[in-house]
Amino acid sequence: MSNKGMLCYITLLVIAIKAAEAFKGPFPCQFESRCSCSYIHERLTADCAWKGLRYIPTIPTNVANISFAHNNICGIKNGIFRINHDLIYLDLSNNNISKLHQRSFQGLSKLETLIISNNSINHTAIPINIFKPLVSLLHLALKRNFNHPFSLNVSSLVTLRTLKIDVVPHGNEPFGEEYAKLRFLQELDLSGLNGYCTLKVLTQDTFKYMPHIERLDLSKCKINTILTGSFKILVHLKYLDLSDNRCLKFKGLANVTYDLPSTSIEILRVNKIHQTFDLNTILTKCQIEPLNNTNITEIQMASNRLQLIEKDALKFLPKTLKKITIADNEFSYGNYIMDVFYVTAEEVNASYMGLSHYLLNSDEPCDINQAGFSPCNKTTDTYREMKIKRNDQNHHRNKPLSFSLDISNVPIPRNIKKFHFRECKLRYYLVKMNFLQNKLEYIDISNNAFYVWQGPISNLTCLTYLDISNNFCSNVSTNFFEYGSNLTTLLIQNNLLGFVLPIDTNGEILAKLTKLKLLNLADNRIPSLPTTIFYSQTEIRMLNLSGNMLENVKFKIDHMTKLSYLDLSYNRLSTLGASFTRQLDILSNNVPNIAVNLLGNPIKCSCESIEFIKWYTSTNVHVLNNLHQECQSLQINLNSSKLIYDYLKKTCSSHTTTIVTVGSWLTIFAIVIIAGIAYRYRWKLRYAYYIVKGKHHGQIKPFETDDDFLYDAFVSYADEDDTFVYTKFLKYLEDDRNIRCCVHKRDFLAGNDIATNITSAIHNSRKTVVIMSHHFLESDWCLFEFNMAKMESIYARSKENIILLVFLEQISSKDLPLNILELIQSKSYIEYPNDEYGDVVFWDKLKETLSV
Ligand SMILES: *[C@@H]1O[C@H](CO)[C@@H](O)[C@H](O)[C@H]1NC(C)=O
Ligand SMILES: *[C@@H]1O[C@H](CO)[C@@H](O)[C@H](O)[C@H]1NC(C)=O
Ligand SMILES: *[C@@H]1O[C@H](CO)[C@@H](O)[C@H](O)[C@H]1NC(C)=O
Ligand SMILES: *[C@@H]1O[C@H](CO)[C@@H](O)[C@H](O)[C@H]1NC(C)=O
Ligand SMILES: *[C@@H]1O[C@H](CO)[C@@H](O)[C@H](O)[C@H]1NC(C)=O
Ligand SMILES: *[C@@H]1O[C@H](CO)[C@@H](O)[C@H](O)[C@H]1NC(C)=O
Ligand SMILES: *[C@@H]1O[C@H](CO)[C@@H](O)[C@H](O)[C@H]1NC(C)=O
Ligand SMILES: *[C@@H]1O[C@H](CO)[C@@H](O)[C@H](O)[C@H]1NC(C)=O
Ligand SMILES: *[C@@H]1O[C@H](CO)[C@@H](O)[C@H](O)[C@H]1NC(C)=O
Ligand SMILES: *[C@@H]1O[C@H](CO)[C@@H](O)[C@H](O)[C@H]1NC(C)=O
Ligand SMILES: *[C@@H]1O[C@H](CO)[C@@H](O)[C@H](O)[C@H]1NC(C)=O
Ligand SMILES: *[C@@H]1O[C@H](CO)[C@@H](O)[C@H](O)[C@H]1NC(C)=O
Repeated sequence: MSNKGMLCYITLLVIAIKAAEAFKGPFPCQFESRCSCSYIHERLTADCAWKGLRYIPTIPTNVANISFAHNNICGIKNGIFRINHDLIYLDLSNNNISKLHQRSFQGLSKLETLIISNNSINHTAIPINIFKPLVSLLHLALKRNFNHPFSLNVSSLVTLRTLKIDVVPHGNEPFGEEYAKLRFLQELDLSGLNGYCTLKVLTQDTFKYMPHIERLDLSKCKINTILTGSFKILVHLKYLDLSDNRCLKFKGLANVTYDLPSTSIEILRVNKIHQTFDLNTILTKCQIEPLNNTNITEIQMASNRLQLIEKDALKFLPKTLKKITIADNEFSYGNYIMDVFYVTAEEVNASYMGLSHYLLNSDEPCDINQAGFSPCNKTTDTYREMKIKRNDQNHHRNKPLSFSLDISNVPIPRNIKKFHFRECKLRYYLVKMNFLQNKLEYIDISNNAFYVWQGPISNLTCLTYLDISNNFCSNVSTNFFEYGSNLTTLLIQNNLLGFVLPIDTNGEILAKLTKLKLLNLADNRIPSLPTTIFYSQTEIRMLNLSGNMLENVKFKIDHMTKLSYLDLSYNRLSTLGASFTRQLDILSNNVPNIAVNLLGNPIKCSCESIEFIKWYTSTNVHVLNNLHQECQSLQINLNSSKLIYDYLKKTCSSHTTTIVTVGSWLTIFAIVIIAGIAYRYRWKLRYAYYIVKGKHHGQIKPFETDDDFLYDAFVSYADEDDTFVYTKFLKYLEDDRNIRCCVHKRDFLAGNDIATNITSAIHNSRKTVVIMSHHFLESDWCLFEFNMAKMESIYARSKENIILLVFLEQISSKDLPLNILELIQSKSYIEYPNDEYGDVVFWDKLKETLSV
């Protein structure tokens, strides 16, 4: 291999290694295994934050970015960084560094960012030329170190762009002549929020050596007085934060705005420049007027107890204004309200109106302002106006809290796109509202008490985002969303819509919202939803129904072809119905990653949910649930849903067989019992049936007296024995002895069925005479008559024996049925003697028996 080839090969190898390194994720650093290293944009970055380090290790030269934040490092040894010529970023914040040495930063010639905030550096121990090696330094943060007057000699930091430092001056001039050397200083962060800042008075001299400043953060600096001219010199100033200087007040603000036309101001923050429990305030024309001559784009004025704005004052807000925050104030209605139309802001943050405040961190005491020149001396008139208003306000308090907000032509800033109005303690019906021509895209009126949404709210043609969550709303009219057809995000969670949605069976409430992509209906106490409720939502991506009371889901979803996430968590679903899972499967063809959240539902690991589990094992839909947890109660190791399904299938099929077997046995048993009972009582049942039937046909009349029978005897006999009945029986009894007999051939009513005739005849006769013979025993009708007579005796005659057996011939007892034998036992029978003499005795005896 030639040298050239070798060189080529090595170059390639190096490139390959470099490339491999470039894609490497975090790995333990070689110099300190507790730190994690990675390549970010081809720079070796070491993360040693929160590692409990007590000293700085020797860092290899190739490290470009390193953080030692949140350790226990006590000092920076001389020369520890002397080889780190490539280090660009060094974070030593949140340690316990107390001493800096002459050569602590030696070698850091390329360092751009140095952060040593939140240590305990003793300023008397800062050597004079300590920052001299940092010839490339752009950003220096030294905050929360010096809680006492000190002066850092920054004259060597000529390249500095950003300085974050504590300021507790002992004289009037915290920023001395040496700052004039920082010709590139653009950002000065003195905020007391994350450092120490005490700057009671700002004067024309305060910033006179740093005219290049573009961003100035003076928040929480205990400023009492700002003399006019303090910011005049800062012609490049774009960002000024004076928030949380609670003694400044709007009076002090007037001195600030007075200077601002000389600057390049874009963002002004004056949140909380009033004390929490001060009197309410008014913003005057004079305080705002100078802003007309600025190109300001954003103003923040939150938490200022602002109640009123002087009429016409808002007209002085410059046309460049894009965003204004007036949150957490106490506005009341005033004649300034029509000026709102002149505000050009696209975003208005008016949230948290009338918020309750607590005395958490007490306000600082304010120095009494010395009288002198003030650009806004003439305020007596407006203060009087406010006083009147305040009385008005008290008057208002006596009114009922809720009433309709019925405004036609609602005045709103003409260019407004975003409106924040969270948590303002408003309790209103949302009645018909007609906005003027507007560009509103985003409205957040959540956390109020707009508890009835009646509407319609017209002309919101551009609206795409609406948040009315947490408003206690239980009533929505069907045309409330009539003009919201451009809405893509609708957040109405945390209301009480469970009172209206279940009865919206035609899906009218949401019918017009055809472009909706995200709908949040969580925590609405919804017990059920009609099938067609989401009929129009064909574009929906995310549907959140969690935290409701749904026991089943029946609404249609198969038209939501773009649905990717359906949240049904924390409802009361024990399963998903087959038609619903089928729809989900259809949808998963369009959106492969479609997910359904079923966590927190009582889906049991049991046979009832086997159909659902079966679907779950086979579907492409991503289903979040805690089925595995549920199934742990089965005390078997079931890791995959497939196993669960197989297990359940087995137990449930035996379960089903058991049910079927037991069920059929029970049925058979019941049939047998019933049949047995019916057989046992067959005669009684038949008797009752025919009696009822006879009564129905009028053949049976109720007895009036005991003796009031139609016949004395019903003669039951086999047809073969009719000679005896006609020639003997009727002759001797009826003709000779005057006994009324009933004989079926003669007395039965034609047309009625025999059984009814028999039963009626037995019932209407005092006694039943059975002409017993072998023929009788062979005849079914005869046995029927016998049994009916028996039933009659048991159920109609209180067990009085009404049957009289007349044996025509000798019948051996083995041929006699048991119930006939019983009668013989009770001696209620007569044998026909069949001889002349005996006959007379027989008939007399018979007559006697029959007439009792
Ligand atoms: C250095 O890394 C930190 C995170 O560890 C990051 O915030 C910072 O921007 C990085 N600085 C540079 C110059 O890459
Ligand atoms: C400052 O550092 C100390 C520990 O040195 C820590 O307890 C404290 O939370 C830090 N403060 C901030 C504001 O980071
Ligand atoms: C910080 O260092 C000092 C000594 O310089 C020591 O007394 C103190 O305990 C240390 N504080 C912490 C939180 O480690
Ligand atoms: C700073 O160090 C000096 C001695 O170098 C000491 O006298 C002084 O008390 C220290 N100050 C603080 C605030 O620790
Ligand atoms: C700051 O340091 C420079 C030398 O770097 C010196 O000339 C100047 O006098 C010092 N200023 C103060 C106020 O100590
Ligand atoms: C406004 O500035 C003037 C000096 O220009 C000063 O006398 C006055 O006290 C300042 N007003 C406030 C409220 O700071
Ligand atoms: C605001 O200033 C512009 C010129 O910068 C002027 O034309 C306009 O009339 C001023 N607006 C008001 C309300 O004074
Ligand atoms: C505002 O912007 C306009 C045009 O961009 C410029 O002419 C004017 O000087 C700016 N005004 C201020 C106060 O910066
Ligand atoms: C509105 O202002 C409040 C108070 O300053 C703030 O907390 C909130 O984050 C702001 N909201 C938006 C959306 O900017
Ligand atoms: C402003 O009012 C103060 C008294 O409150 C007075 O001393 C001062 O002269 C007035 N300044 C102007 C410009 O009217
Ligand atoms: C919308 O506002 C315009 C006036 O800006 C008005 O003429 C129109 O009737 C309004 N539309 C509806 C539906 O109210
Ligand atoms: C929806 O928005 C478009 C423009 O974004 C507009 O032309 C249309 O009128 C709007 N539709 C409704 C019903 O407001």
